[in-house]
Amino acid sequence: MQEKIDNIIERVKTEILNASNKQELIQINAKYLGKSGELSLLMRGLKDLSPAEKPKMGAILNQARDQVLALVRQKEEVLNDQELAQRINNEHVDITMPVKPLQVGTLHPIEIIQRDLIEYFVSQGFSVMDGREVETDYYCFEALNVPKDHPARDAQDTFYFDAEKLLRVHTSATQIKTMESRTPPIKMISTGRVYRVDEVDATHSPMFNQFEILVVDENVTMSDLKGMLENLAKHLFGEKTQIRLRPSYFPFTEPSIEVDATCTHCGGKGCPVCKQTGFIELLGAGMVHPNVLKNCKIDPNKYMGFAAGLGLDRIAMIKYGINDIRDLYDGDVNFLKQFR
Ligand code: DAH
Repeated sequence: MQEKIDNIIERVKTEILNASNKQELIQINAKYLGKSGELSLLMRGLKDLSPAEKPKMGAILNQARDQVLALVRQKEEVLNDQELAQRINNEHVDITMPVKPLQVGTLHPIEIIQRDLIEYFVSQGFSVMDGREVETDYYCFEALNVPKDHPARDAQDTFYFDAEKLLRVHTSATQIKTMESRTPPIKMISTGRVYRVDEVDATHSPMFNQFEILVVDENVTMSDLKGMLENLAKHLFGEKTQIRLRPSYFPFTEPSIEVDATCTHCGGKGCPVCKQTGFIELLGAGMVHPNVLKNCKIDPNKYMGFAAGLGLDRIAMIKYGINDIRDLYDGDVNFLKQFR
């Protein structure tokens, strides 16, 4: 019997030595200690032995079983260590690997122009005022000298929530808010989205972006406005740019002007961009109407002001040669990523 057991232990030892993974170890364990394992069968045979032999053989077999178990556990630990070492080796981070390129976004062309203009005016002492996209009839029209039956309302039809609330048609409403809350001298700019009832085509959108400028002080004159506009045009389109003023009409300014700049593409010679005129329309402006000052409790005999409103979409289109306003709002990443 002892010989048989010694033989089993020897075999277990070599098999365990050759086992290279846990699966094989489980098989070895089953082969000797499982339900019908070799050692288990021998143990089951104990009951047939004589009472004198039983304890002796029992002790030998128990010892053999403990030995096999110990060998299996030992090997199990070795395999565990190996497995861990292998995982650590496989999972280590190679810090010399090249990084995946980051997807860096770009600023929207309108945002680029907006930021540039804000910086330009703030550096000249202007304050940036916030406005509301949902405005009241009073701030959008009435206070700006556009009474209910004024024909100018037709040209600026908008979306109404009710008789009073509407989507603003221009950023000019911020002029009123500013003059109500501050006393002259006032130098302010305000920018944001505005809305009009308009069919969408290459040059029209029911939503676009405006930039408002207002200066109120004693002795502010039309030549101050002209100087400001000239500098602005040069800032936007280059030193050679010249401006042209045409008489116009806005209810909130008197006199009112339309401002053109020499075409950035042909320098004023005439080309398809400027429709052969040499000029491109830039913005509307004028001297603040005395009624508007009065509506804001500012004495028109003491103070004067000038104001201007420009369309940022138009400027972006001219500056970047964008032919269709819809490109600005389609959200096409391939289009937008050109503007870095
Ligand atoms: N609000 C005008 C528009 O939307 C633009 C404008 C014209 C603004 C003259 C002004 C201004 O401040 O003085 O067409």
